[in-house]
Amino acid sequence: MKILLSEKKIQLRVRALARQISKDFSGKEVLLVGVLKGAFIFMADLARKMTPPVKMDFVRLASYGSGTQSSGKVKFLKDLETSVQGKNVLIIEDIVDTGITLQYLYQRLQARKPRSLKVVALLDKMERRKVNFQPDYVGFQIKDHFVVGYGLDCGEKYRNLPGIYTLK
Ligand code: IMP
Repeated sequence: MKILLSEKKIQLRVRALARQISKDFSGKEVLLVGVLKGAFIFMADLARKMTPPVKMDFVRLASYGSGTQSSGKVKFLKDLETSVQGKNVLIIEDIVDTGITLQYLYQRLQARKPRSLKVVALLDKMERRKVNFQPDYVGFQIKDHFVVGYGLDCGEKYRNLPGIYTLK
């Protein structure tokens, strides 16, 4: 494993993202939608640095399974418990890779008529994109490496690492 982003670097960037998002949502209540499991640490840090009032809910989507290969298919393993209709919704994701997962979630939530729908992803592997999807806020653009830590796993391991590492 090799360090890609230190804990300090991540914390500084998350603070800057929270500041920007808080400004954009100023005076509005936001429903944070965390994509389990990978986004849970990012969401916890981001939410604690945001100033607008927030509510939280989670979805779980089937993506990589336990290996490092995407199946290309997405489905809800767990849907929201809250209605998004008429609400300002911010989807919080750990990483955009092919874009298939976020595009699917975005379209499914958009169909439920939120007042606004935005997406923040901590990491973006733009060169891997297979569909035309771009998050509204991105923490870091990264190259085509498989990464772990800060919520991201490989076979359920390494989620608790405070930094982000590339895995060989
Ligand atoms: P996409 O649908 O290809 O964009 O994949 C998104 C999902 O794949 C993310 O939510 C992650 O769970 C997983 N994923 C993609 N790249 C990585 C990686 O480098 N490390 C760990 N998980 C990843």
